[in-house]
Amino acid sequence: MTTERRKFEHIKICLEEDVQSKYNYLEDVSFIHSALPELNFDEINTEIKLFGKKLSFPLIVSAMTGGTDEALKINKAIAKACQKTGIGMGLGSQRAMIEDPSLTYTYDIRKFAKDILLIGNIGLPQFVKGYTEKEALFAVNEIKADMLAVHLNSLQEVSQPEGDLFFKNGVAILKKLKEKLPFPVIAKETGAGISKETAENLTFLDGVDVAGIGGTSWSAVEYYRSKAHKETVKKLWNWGIPTPLSIAECRASGIKTIIGSGGVRTGFDIAKCIALGASACGIALPFLKLAVDEDVDGIIEMIETIKREFKIAMFLNSCQSVYDLKTRPLFLTGELSQLMQQRGMDFHYYNYR
Ligand SMILES: Cc1cc2nc3c(=O)[nH]c(=O)nc-3n(C[C@H](O)[C@H](O)[C@H](O)COP(=O)(O)O)c2cc1C
Repeated sequence: MTTERRKFEHIKICLEEDVQSKYNYLEDVSFIHSALPELNFDEINTEIKLFGKKLSFPLIVSAMTGGTDEALKINKAIAKACQKTGIGMGLGSQRAMIEDPSLTYTYDIRKFAKDILLIGNIGLPQFVKGYTEKEALFAVNEIKADMLAVHLNSLQEVSQPEGDLFFKNGVAILKKLKEKLPFPVIAKETGAGISKETAENLTFLDGVDVAGIGGTSWSAVEYYRSKAHKETVKKLWNWGIPTPLSIAECRASGIKTIIGSGGVRTGFDIAKCIALGASACGIALPFLKLAVDEDVDGIIEMIETIKREFKIAMFLNSCQSVYDLKTRPLFLTGELSQLMQQRGMDFHYYNYR
């Protein structure tokens, strides 16, 4: 099956089926209300700087697509909304345009989004199989992106009948890429999270996007496509590291910048991820339907709602700047607290600061 056909099926399944993890562990994170915020709502500054670009608040629309005319429509709608609202955007895997450069136009949305942080995307298996910095430079420069996310999607690949199961020497390959590329490079999961041990091996990169469990489950997506091994793929539906745990693990690893994603659905979720240690967040699935319908105003409205929720969370935590959120105490409850305890995460750091 061609890359384009597979991508089309993924989008159709994401629109029509339940593809989310059984539980969103961000529900086990809550703030300690500040009854006396000692600031006025209008004084709150939600802006941040991420990889050299200004964002109106810490959000990126996460990588989804490219490679077909349908994908161009999706990318264009998202790009216009990101430009209007001042947030970042990730493009879907650029393998299609590397294999067939005539498809470059399906990713080429810089003209609709002159100022945004734009992130290119290639999967690690492609580098293991032979891509070098040459393909990475082509992918990023050709569409005037700012940086590259190398996606680590072992769970997705192993759930696919035609999966690319090539991950050997991944750390060495990423190190070489980082040395040769003139722009920031991050590693990005796609829904199964990044552990402390993995992040410790990647501290030479500019950051990671954790994409943990809580939102889109790629084994769920592949479950609907699979014929052989369907029941095995179903058992992987909730495999991985919950997003809030993954952020805490990456914070403990010393990695430079953390993007929190995987089940981030509200501005309150973004505030929780920042308090746990993320610098910004990513959201994918909730924007897909609106983007397929080319509903730019609908995407803008959703982003503005999320921004307002984020600002409310800052207000109720007495935070004038986004950075202040990193110093606010948190309750960690339910299964998340048990998992954090078993992984030796520092509860006191979050509870009593
Ligand atoms: C339709 C769709 C396509 C995706 N394609 C890619 C991709 O090409 N590259 C990638 O790194 N992540 C891809 N992802 C993963 C997302 O970027 C994100 O990490 C994941 O969906 C978790 O976020 P969510 O729960 O907000 O959807 C895709 C997600 C969706 C829903």
